[in-house]
Amino acid sequence: MSGLPNAKQIEEWNGEKGKRWLEEYERVEWQLIPFGRRAMDQAALRTGERVLDIGCGSGETTLELARRVGPSGAAIGVDISRLLLDSARELARQAELPNVSFQEADAQTYPFAPASFDVVFSRFGVMFFENPDAAFRNLKAALRPGGRLSFVCWRSLQESEFFALPMAAALRRVPPPAPIDPDAPGPGAFANPDRMRGVLSRSGFTDIVIEPLDEKVGGWTLDETVETLTRMGPASALIGGAPQEVQQAIAADVREALKPLRDRVPQRRRLARERALLVPACGRPAFVPVIPRKRESSAVYPSSAAVLWIPACAGMTLLDDWRV
Ligand SMILES: C[S@@+](CC[C@H](N)C(=O)[O-])C[C@H]1O[C@@H](n2cnc3c(N)ncnc32)[C@H](O)[C@@H]1O
Repeated sequence: MSGLPNAKQIEEWNGEKGKRWLEEYERVEWQLIPFGRRAMDQAALRTGERVLDIGCGSGETTLELARRVGPSGAAIGVDISRLLLDSARELARQAELPNVSFQEADAQTYPFAPASFDVVFSRFGVMFFENPDAAFRNLKAALRPGGRLSFVCWRSLQESEFFALPMAAALRRVPPPAPIDPDAPGPGAFANPDRMRGVLSRSGFTDIVIEPLDEKVGGWTLDETVETLTRMGPASALIGGAPQEVQQAIAADVREALKPLRDRVPQRRRLARERALLVPACGRPAFVPVIPRKRESSAVYPSSAAVLWIPACAGMTLLDDWRV
């Protein structure tokens, strides 16, 4: 591994982690859309603005940002993963949006043109910096005076069933991992809002608003759910490192643990698989925006999927091929 900043993340997101993200992407994107849309709403984008999308991954959010600012504006997605950026560029080509572009770069160190963006946005792409102070200072410098920052990141593992359930199943069968620094780069790096506030204020952001955001997620078949829960998130390394038979036993435990959750689902019609349906339909307002439009910067401190299944949103119910 090279001595570059964020070398470990660069290696992982261009390797196994990036591949897995792409493989699971269609399912995962469904879950992430509502979180990202809330953060976009918070940013209160205006026609003609220039937006930087940090850790843009496969680019869905970058495209949506470009639509929101219109052809006179621009959305630039930045990511360290060439693998994911290839997929993002393909998506942009298909969407024929002229105001989208992508940059392979480390957002912590890349020399963005000073004061060249109105908004810095991210959906779960800012928790991986080795040096968050340096990264947010860099992003602050890229914002014009009065520019805004809006992002979503995860709360603690315990607050998210999506992460906690497979972790609990894994820990019944494998030894716990060596304790890690809770602030280490990774999904939970900003789980502590005090830490996040400190990073942001030291980096020059003001008027910081941090809000919890809970969304209900799910909508896959039981098999798909078990697969995704054991392959993604903080428990995946633990599970993936176990012998095959232990992995199967953990998967069986996850499956068992999921059964009672069916009771939360009031209807059982087949979930329409078009992504487009997902977002407008799942509009349970768990989160009330509190950032006045004139704020200089803001962080949406968001969250976790607090509950695993999509609930009573119109047309958004569980699958009829759900078998337990
Ligand atoms: C959890 S994924 C989220 C991807 C995307 N924002 C989404 O919501 O689908 C995190 C992304 O952050 C990117 N990333 C991690 N560290 C980064 C850095 N220092 N600079 C830019 N991107 C980074 C990863 O390559 C990955 O694509």
